[in-house]
Amino acid sequence: MDRPYTILSCAMSVDGRIDDTGPERLRLSNPADFAEIDALRAECDAILVGAGTLRTDDPRLLVRSPELRERRRARGRTEHLLKALVTRSGRVDPAARFFATGDAGAVVYTGGAGVSTAREALGRRPDADPPAEVVDAGDPPTAAAVLADLAGRGVERLLVEGGGHIHTLFLTSGLVDELRLAVAPFFVGEEAAPRFVLPAAFPQGPGAPMRLAEARSLGDVAVLRYRLSDREDGAGERG
Ligand SMILES: NC(=O)c1ccc[n+]([C@@H]2O[C@H](COP(=O)([O-])OP(=O)(O)OC[C@H]3O[C@@H](n4cnc5c(N)ncnc54)[C@H](OP(=O)(O)O)[C@@H]3O)[C@@H](O)[C@H]2O)c1
Repeated sequence: MDRPYTILSCAMSVDGRIDDTGPERLRLSNPADFAEIDALRAECDAILVGAGTLRTDDPRLLVRSPELRERRRARGRTEHLLKALVTRSGRVDPAARFFATGDAGAVVYTGGAGVSTAREALGRRPDADPPAEVVDAGDPPTAAAVLADLAGRGVERLLVEGGGHIHTLFLTSGLVDELRLAVAPFFVGEEAAPRFVLPAAFPQGPGAPMRLAEARSLGDVAVLRYRLSDREDGAGERG
């Protein structure tokens, strides 16, 4: 396997925004959707976000349900997922919950001067168990290099969870296999609110559209699942 089966998951408003400009994280989902995302996480080996999301949200990125964690343990897996972070600058807060929680470790993908910047920052918390690793994934880091490194760590199924720059990096790379969108029934309507993706050249343009695999409602939230590749998702066959 040269790269993990890669699922990109995002909750957005109908006008394509993934947050507003307020200080609190905007809720774009409902409890039923959160539960599905938790189950999706539990079926993955690693979860990846960008440095912007870490700075704005300080997420834990854990499997929340005790039953799902127990099921992972029973299969001989860690309770939580390996966490992956992408940063160009290497500017990471070693006190972030991303590094302080979980049981499967963390990898920071950066490049150029970012490598020493990140190593220096993370060296300030040598007590981390297991410690976070810093990997040179190119300057700037590429999705291909990140995915190759994760595959080398045994990651077969990866969940990419934002934000907009990282969605753009991965979707333009052509290496995402599946896209899951949860669309909230409202507009954000702010010019400065973060977008699902930035303007870029996407392989799945009008001439090469994605395949809509599923469209359904979870309460007022619309869940759309698109297939972007012909790769098989081996989730059901894994131990
Ligand atoms: N609704 C959802 O599902 C959802 C999910 C996650 C996040 N969010 C929201 O998304 C917002 C954050 O999104 P964002 O776009 O600002 O941040 P982001 O995509 O999480 O991260 C952006 C960072 O990634 C790094 N980066 C950018 N381009 C890169 C490239 N080409 N190669 C490698 N690294 C690159 C840079 O890190 P450095 O600055 O360190 O160089 C950049 O600051 C927050 O408001 C958060 O709440 C929403």
